[in-house]
Amino acid sequence: MPRNHKHQMMRRLQDNWSVKIVRAMQLEGKSPYFRAMQSANSPRVDIDGAPRLMLGSNNYLGLADHPLVIEGARKALERFGAGSTGSRLLNGTIELHLELEAEIADWYGTEAAIVFTTGHQANLGTIGTLAGRGDVIVTDADAHASLHDAAKFTDAQAVRFRHNDVDSLAEKLATAAKRGRPALVAVDGVYSMEGDLAPVDRLAEICLEHNALLLVDEAHSVGVFGPNLTGVTEMYGAADRTPLRTGTFSKSIATVGGFAAGSHDLVDAIRTSGRSFLFTAAGVPAAVGGALAAVRLIRSAEGQERAERCLANGRFLRDSLISLGVPLADPATGPDGAEIVTPIVPVIVGESLRAFATWHELYQRGVFAALAHYPAVPLDHALLRLAVTAEHTFADLEEAAEAVHAVLELDTERQLVA
Ligand SMILES: Cc1ncc(COP(=O)(O)O)c(C=O)c1O
Repeated sequence: MPRNHKHQMMRRLQDNWSVKIVRAMQLEGKSPYFRAMQSANSPRVDIDGAPRLMLGSNNYLGLADHPLVIEGARKALERFGAGSTGSRLLNGTIELHLELEAEIADWYGTEAAIVFTTGHQANLGTIGTLAGRGDVIVTDADAHASLHDAAKFTDAQAVRFRHNDVDSLAEKLATAAKRGRPALVAVDGVYSMEGDLAPVDRLAEICLEHNALLLVDEAHSVGVFGPNLTGVTEMYGAADRTPLRTGTFSKSIATVGGFAAGSHDLVDAIRTSGRSFLFTAAGVPAAVGGALAAVRLIRSAEGQERAERCLANGRFLRDSLISLGVPLADPATGPDGAEIVTPIVPVIVGESLRAFATWHELYQRGVFAALAHYPAVPLDHALLRLAVTAEHTFADLEEAAEAVHAVLELDTERQLVA
C-alpha cells in the first residue's frame, strides 16, 4: 500500500455515498453496474451467462449489430489498422474522418462539421473554443454532464437555468446582457434520463432576442427526430436559428465518437485550438468507418423506416406500462404542445435502495434496464430507464412491461409490510 493512502483526499473517498451504496449492492450480487455482456448489443443479449431482454441501451435504431455498420467498421479496421496512435492534428486523421465530416455537414446543412473522439469531447471542444473570460455560459440545469463540464472547463461564468423553463433562461440572459457579457446557451435536445424534449423553437427565439448563441446537443435525438433525422432542432423548424449543434455516435449511430456541425469559422477554430480535439488521440478507424456506414444508412429509406419502428416501439411500451398501471414520468411534448413519444420510457421508483432491489428483481426475470439514481437524477427520484430499439418486437416489449409491473407490485407489497 503506498504510504500516502491515508491522505485526507483518499479518506474522503471512503465516505462517498454513491460508492457505499454500490459496494453494498455488489456484496449482495445486486449491483446494476458493470455487468459484462457476452454477446453483441442487440434486443437480446447474454449477461452473466443468461439471455436478457436489453432495455438499457441507447441503440435506438438497432444498428449496433447491423451488417452494413459492422462491414464499415471491418473494412476500416482492415485498411487503417487497429488504432490511430495520435491526435487528429498530427497523424490521427484518416480519409474516413474527412468523408464523415463532409457527410455530416451535408446532412445538417451546415458549412462544415468536425469529428471528435467522443461526444463528451465534442461539447468540451465546441464550447471551450467559443467561450472564455468575460462570457457567460447558460446551461439547462438538467443538461448532460458534458455540457456542465464544458462550461466549467472555460474561464467563462457558468450559470444554470431551471430545466426547460424559458422564463428562467430569459432572466439569466437579461442579466448577462445588462452586464454586457456575450452569452452562449447549451441544452440537450432530448434529455437522456426522463426522455423529455427541449422546446428548441422558444429557446431559439429567446436567444435571438438576447443576442445569445444557442447550442443544441442532439445526442439522443439524432437518428430519431426531424424530417431528415438530424434531431429535435430540425423537428422544431429551428435549425436556421441554432448555429451550434453537437452529437455523439454512441447512441443511434451505434459506434463511438462525436461531432459538431456549424460554420467554417467554428470548425477551423476547433481544428486549431479545441483542446479536447487536439490533445487526445483520434477515434479508432473501426469506429469512424462504422459511424460513416451508420450515418449513410440513417440517411437512406431504411433509416426512416427504423426511426418509425423505434418510435412505434416507444409508444407500444409506454401504452403497455400505462395499461398495467405502472407510474411513468410525464410524456414529452413537441412543438405544438402535443404529446411526443421518445424511445426513452422512464419508470419512476423513488428511493435509491428500493430502486436497486427493483432493478435486481427485474434482472432476475431476464430484463436489463438502466438504473438512474442520485446524482444522475434528484435524490429519491431514482428511476428505471427503459429504452427501446427499432429491433424490439411488440412481444419483447409486452414481456418487459409485464416484468416491470410484477416487480413494482412486489416493491409495493414490501413497502406495506415494512
Ligand atoms: C446528451 C449527451 N451528450 C453527450 C454525451 C456524451 O457522448 P459520448 O458517449 O460520445 O461521450 C452523452 C452520452 O451519454 C449524452 O447523453
